[in-house]
Amino acid sequence: MFWLNAAYAQSFMPTAATDIAGRVDNLYSFLLISSAISCAILIGGMIFFVYKYKRKTDTDKTAYITHNTFLEFLWSFIPLVIFLFVFAWGWLIYHDMRKVPDNALEIHVVGKKWAWEVKYKSGVTTGNLIVVPVNRDVKLILTSIDVIHSFYIPSFRIKQDAVPGRYTMLWFNANKLGEFHVFCAEYCGTSHSGMMATLKVVTQAEYEKWLETEAQASTLPLAARGEKIFQAKACAGCHSVADKTPKVGPSLFGLFGAKETLADGSEVSNIDENYIRESILNPNAKIVKGFPAGVMPAFQGQLNETELGALIEYIKGLK
Ligand code: CUA
Repeated sequence: MFWLNAAYAQSFMPTAATDIAGRVDNLYSFLLISSAISCAILIGGMIFFVYKYKRKTDTDKTAYITHNTFLEFLWSFIPLVIFLFVFAWGWLIYHDMRKVPDNALEIHVVGKKWAWEVKYKSGVTTGNLIVVPVNRDVKLILTSIDVIHSFYIPSFRIKQDAVPGRYTMLWFNANKLGEFHVFCAEYCGTSHSGMMATLKVVTQAEYEKWLETEAQASTLPLAARGEKIFQAKACAGCHSVADKTPKVGPSLFGLFGAKETLADGSEVSNIDENYIRESILNPNAKIVKGFPAGVMPAFQGQLNETELGALIEYIKGLK
C-alpha cells in the first residue's frame, strides 16, 4: 500500500512535509482504496446479477427468498469492523496531531484582515512569513484580532481556527527543507483568498542566522528598513527607484514633494506622506495619468505602522 500511497501522493496531493502528513495520506489512501473495492463489489455485483437473473420468458418466476441471516450478519459485521478500524486509525493520528510535544519552539501567530502577523519570542515580528528550523517541534499559538480565520498548511495536513479573544494551538515538525504555502481556510471577507503566508523550513544554523539578521533589522534607521521592506514586497518589479523611467507603475524617484497629474485630469501639487500612504494602502484611490487602474494590490492590513513609516521614509529619500 505504501508504494501506492507514494504514487498517489505525488500525483494528487501537495508534498507531505511532516510525518503526520504521511500518516494522514496513508489513512486517506486506505479509505480511497477500500471505498473503490467496495464500490466495485457493490456496483459490479449488481450489474452481474441484473444480467444473470434477467427474466427470459413471460413465465419466469423469481425464487421466493425472504432473508438470509448469515449474509445479513456478514454485510453488517464486516463494514462495522472496517469502520471501527478506520476510527481507531484516525483517532491515533488525531491524538498525535493535537498533542503538542514538550519543549516545542513557540511562535505567536495573529490573524487579521487580511494577513498573518508572526511574533517570535526574541521580539522579531514578520508579516506573512514564518521561518522555522527543520526536524524541530514547533508550536504555533494562534489568535485573531478581528474575525475567525483558519491557519492551514496543506503540505503538513494541519489546520486550525484562529479565534478572536482566545488562543488555539497547532504543532508540527517539518522534515523537509523548502517553502510551503499557508492559506486562510475560513471565509473572512473581501481578501480572504489573498490571505496567504509562506512557511520557510531551513536548517537550524540558517534559522539562527535569520533571527539574528531580523533582530538587527529592527534597529536599522527607518529608511534602511523601508528599503528592506521594498525589496521583500518586490515593489521594484513595478516601480523604478534609481531614475524617472516608468515601469508598470509610476517611478518613485524624486517623487516626494513633486507633483503628479491624475487620470481624471486633476493635479496633486505637493506629494506628501499622506499621498504615499494612501497610494500604498489603497492604490486605486488615485491613479496617475497614463497608468492602468487595478494593477497594484492594496497593502491595507499587510503592513503595520512602523513598516509603513519606514517605506515612506525610504521613498522620501529617493532623489
Ligand atoms: Cu482570513 Cu479567510
